[in-house]
Amino acid sequence: MVRIRIQNLGNRSIESETTERKVIELIHENGIDWMHACGKKGRCTTCKMRILAGQENLSPETPEELQFRILNRLLPTERLACQAQVLQGEVTIRVPETSKFSHLTYTE
Ligand code: FES
Repeated sequence: MVRIRIQNLGNRSIESETTERKVIELIHENGIDWMHACGKKGRCTTCKMRILAGQENLSPETPEELQFRILNRLLPTERLACQAQVLQGEVTIRVPETSKFSHLTYTE
């Protein structure tokens, strides 16, 4: 089982029996709105998430993520939710300021 905890959405917890699923798919399947301007194709960065813990439980960076990192559009603590998969254990994330929706209420 894998778990994603979203700190600034009230510590909302998502669990899945299936590993190697993209983070954004698990988030969307649980009814949570998450930005994805390019349709989850790794072309925008609006889906980025800040990793607070469990980075080692995510899949290796994809070529799309590496490209954005070279361009400084992805910080060392950030991953694209449409690219990263949870391979095992738990990951704690936050929605970055630039990827927040105006219609959602975020917590600390
Ligand atoms: S949705 Fe565009 S990069 Fe992930």
